[in-house]
Amino acid sequence: MRADAARVLDAVMHRGRSLKVELSTAQSRIDDGRDRALLEAMVMAALRNRADYEATLKSWLPRPLGQRDSELRALLYAGLAQLDVMGLPSHAAVDATVEAARLLKRTHQAGLVNAVLRRATREALVRADAQAGWPQWLLQHLHADWPGDIDAILRASRVSPPMWLRVNHRKTDRDAYAARLREQGMDVRMPDHPADALLLETPVAVSALPGFGEGLVSVQDGSAQQIADAFALKAGMRVLDACAAPGGKTAHLLEREPGLQVIAADIDARRLRRVEEGLQRLDLSAQTLVADATQPDAWWDGRPFDAILIDAPCSATGILRRQPDILLHRRAEDVAALAALQSRMLDALWSMLATGGTLVYATCSILRGENDRQIRAFLQRTPAAQLEPLDAAFGHDTGFGRQRLPGEDGMDGFFYARLRKQ
Ligand SMILES: C[S@@+](CC[C@H](N)C(=O)[O-])C[C@H]1O[C@@H](n2cnc3c(N)ncnc32)[C@H](O)[C@@H]1O
Repeated sequence: MRADAARVLDAVMHRGRSLKVELSTAQSRIDDGRDRALLEAMVMAALRNRADYEATLKSWLPRPLGQRDSELRALLYAGLAQLDVMGLPSHAAVDATVEAARLLKRTHQAGLVNAVLRRATREALVRADAQAGWPQWLLQHLHADWPGDIDAILRASRVSPPMWLRVNHRKTDRDAYAARLREQGMDVRMPDHPADALLLETPVAVSALPGFGEGLVSVQDGSAQQIADAFALKAGMRVLDACAAPGGKTAHLLEREPGLQVIAADIDARRLRRVEEGLQRLDLSAQTLVADATQPDAWWDGRPFDAILIDAPCSATGILRRQPDILLHRRAEDVAALAALQSRMLDALWSMLATGGTLVYATCSILRGENDRQIRAFLQRTPAAQLEPLDAAFGHDTGFGRQRLPGEDGMDGFFYARLRKQ
């Protein structure tokens, strides 16, 4: 499994491959659920803390590792992560990582792996500057957008997130479900907000959640759970979830009001299948539709919607703790392209909203160009759009929506704004 971690890390760090794809492919070959979870935790920890491990190897190795040793570097990162942040018993971690060097046909380097990891059990690692490993363009955005919060953002973005659950109150309630978790020995908290949420500081495999298969509970960050509160939902309302996949928010809206007529649309047919699977697990139904939100002429029947959710594709800079590979792969020009797409989506979908209807725009970004500046520009060019106030318990008021920064209240970085059509 350490060898798998090294292969995944090598592909992601050195060959530009997607973390999600590489990890799920590696996990699909592992039978044991706990091993799958351990692999994920190891890869995530190594990526989140890679700047420290790079600094440590630079200081401890007599010569820098060459390109041909990229897999060895990845294995060392996985080894250091186990000792540094995962709290695994050090002897087992060292031995298993040395063994992985052999599995990777690097028997000649097993001694080096052993020496580095044994040293790490005795000595403090070398810590890199907090901004190391962050691309310059992103640091510039953060300096411009959140000058007083940079240190907190950098810190929160490398912390392993707690596990947020959303209790399906059609089937149970928070007290009853929390009691079931406690019966299983889990340490569960019931936060004041959001209303359907429970919190596990120590994440568990989904298969360990009682009644998961029967739809009693879903895994969804607290920030994302805020969206259902932004709509005043009533049975019979026509709702469009324009960027629905994998379906967390569609399902939550329907759990709140199963009598909604929901169209769950997404441009990605494969991801849309996950919406269908999720709804089936929860005994909910919606019409799913492969559709480009910027091209309504190709699929819209002309009947206006009472409510529209745009959970827009974005830089995902609010969820770096979940997707640490973004720091490696996202480019400055991607953000400008995403902002242009978001703006086209707002314009196209606004035309489908009924007068008096509500449109909620959300992102898991912390960049103002995708969030409050996006909404400010939309309001300037759309006289019928009126900004509405939102739950004051959520993050910060930016003047054009509310922004939560990563880690605040233990949740993901997230922005949302609510607009009414006059
Ligand atoms: C942030 S994710 C949505 C998450 C989802 N709402 C949930 O809660 O599970 C953004 C989604 O937008 C979709 N998307 C990207 N471009 C699109 C477009 N032009 N039209 C419709 N969907 C699009 C992506 O495929 C992706 O699934």
